[in-house]
Amino acid sequence: MYEYICYCDKVTKGDIASAVFKGAKTLKEVVAVTGAMMNPDCERNNPKGICCGKDIVELIKEYS
Ligand code: FES
Repeated sequence: MYEYICYCDKVTKGDIASAVFKGAKTLKEVVAVTGAMMNPDCERNNPKGICCGKDIVELIKEYS
């Protein structure tokens, strides 16, 4: 099963990792590469009920 980080745009942890490995360093760059946060309806899609932005920032730190 995929582990989504952005549920609204079905972006996985792996997608974030590969964006960072390819050189994306900021949330803005990761969003541009992965297509995350393009269609936000987080309250409905994300089990946490909030947007994935913070989680993406955490992953950028983890993978950098
Ligand atoms: S979970 Fe990423 S924009 Fe909603």
